[in-house]
Amino acid sequence: MASSATLSSRRTNVQDRPSATVSELEKPELPLKSIPGDYGLPFIGAIKDRLDYFYNQGRDEFFKSKIQKYQSTVLRTNMPPGPFISSNPKVVALLDGKSFPILFDVSKVEKKDLFTGTYMSSTNLTGGYRILSYLDPSEPKHAKLKQLLFFLLKSSRDRVLPEFKACYTELFKTVDYEVSEKGKCSFQTPSEQAAFNFLARAFFDSNPVDSELGTDGPSLANNWVLFQLGPIFTLGLPKYIEDLLLHTFPLPSFLVKKDYKKLYDFFYESASLVLDEAEKMGISRDEACHNLVFATCFNSFGGVKVFFPIMLKWIGLAGENLHLSLAKEIRSVIKSNSGKLSLSAMEQMPLMKSVVYESFRIDPPVQFQYGKAKKDLLIESHHAVYEVKEGEMLFGYQPFATKDPNIFERAEEFVPDRFMGVDGEKLLKYVLWSNGPETEHPTVADKQCAGKGFVTLVSRLFVVEFFRRYDTFEVEVGPAPVGVAVTITSLKAASF
Ligand code: HEM
Repeated sequence: MASSATLSSRRTNVQDRPSATVSELEKPELPLKSIPGDYGLPFIGAIKDRLDYFYNQGRDEFFKSKIQKYQSTVLRTNMPPGPFISSNPKVVALLDGKSFPILFDVSKVEKKDLFTGTYMSSTNLTGGYRILSYLDPSEPKHAKLKQLLFFLLKSSRDRVLPEFKACYTELFKTVDYEVSEKGKCSFQTPSEQAAFNFLARAFFDSNPVDSELGTDGPSLANNWVLFQLGPIFTLGLPKYIEDLLLHTFPLPSFLVKKDYKKLYDFFYESASLVLDEAEKMGISRDEACHNLVFATCFNSFGGVKVFFPIMLKWIGLAGENLHLSLAKEIRSVIKSNSGKLSLSAMEQMPLMKSVVYESFRIDPPVQFQYGKAKKDLLIESHHAVYEVKEGEMLFGYQPFATKDPNIFERAEEFVPDRFMGVDGEKLLKYVLWSNGPETEHPTVADKQCAGKGFVTLVSRLFVVEFFRRYDTFEVEVGPAPVGVAVTITSLKAASF
């Protein structure tokens, strides 16, 4: 690979990861273009884009039609919510796999207060604190709080496998019962209950069901998250009512104060070990606890509740042949490991691992990433180079980056074995769900998901535990406010 010093000064400024598979020098120089697209009239343009995005076109069509119109995957648009929630909805949208990764480079983009996009929800929802997800790595608290989460994950390591098995066995029992009694089972409610219980038991060695929370954890967490993500959600209510209710003014935080307090009290009681560690690091117990509520109920519960149905959808729709291959692979590895499931046993299941990566690629659970240009930048798509000014907001729509046909063959298809073998593994750097390439690991100096390793592990565990128990299954898929709604319509218990 040519060193960047041999490239022209213009090209050395252009971010080049992780797309630098071919020597830059072998490619023709890309033309420098101004970014196409427009924001429309003040106020009206933003409202029009919001209605198109949510209701008239829908998310994918909204971006596709702009790509068509402007013949460019880097373009200007407004992003919801706009007035009156965000003061400036104008963004430069990055809609391909080459321009998108600039959002990971924290030397070029600032990640302060933009976790949810062009607005930030009130800190009244988080005890008055700006939580880790909203901090830029240049802020001293960022490294300390991320370190605390690494401590949390490390301290819970030995509980992950047994607690996962315990909580998801409960889930499978419910699903078995409902499918045999009613002929179908909606995955959402039992899956959220299993996820919440598992996370609390694994992270804090504390069972919410035995506490004041009882089985209310998932609904309390959902309400609280809705107050933060409402401006960028649809619930399927009539268009103008919903737009006024969710997207025009922030929901008043006092309405969810009681729910949040219940969650906070549970975590404060349960998390002594981590809160002690926080104090040693110079973080108050109160600030640490608000961060633990956020990491567990927003980052972790929110992520898992979206991603497990996504996996079930794609694996379910792929059909019986894939199911039987997964069951064979998973069961034979466990058998040759003396009937035990372990981390190293899971490493020997290439199809299972590939299926999890492919689910992350085709349907990334967190679809939006934002970053503000720290300086004047040049951004490269497959076809041109664009200049962005300091202070402009960059927005990446991840599904278009990870379904980029210039990077992946049959990009729109779920290809279960896509990431198997040496060539398959070379593609992992283009899997971006964690806010970074799959081949990299989070550090206190970046904004990659702190729970990346944990999430990969539990997603694999879900597939493994599922196919230990079942040979095959069928699903129906419908829309949901976030992710997909999956109903299991048939299940065949393990026969070998
Ligand atoms: C399926 C599950 C998950 C998904 C899809 C997910 C995805 C993400 C994404 C996309 C970001 C970057 C957001 C941005 O700055 O633009 C992020 C950040 C973060 N995630 Fe996750 N996450 C998941 C689970 C978890 C878990 C289990 C934890 C537990 C500790 C966690 C903790 C965090 C934290 C603390 C950050 C902020 C990192 C920083 O400020 O440097 N996430 N996650």
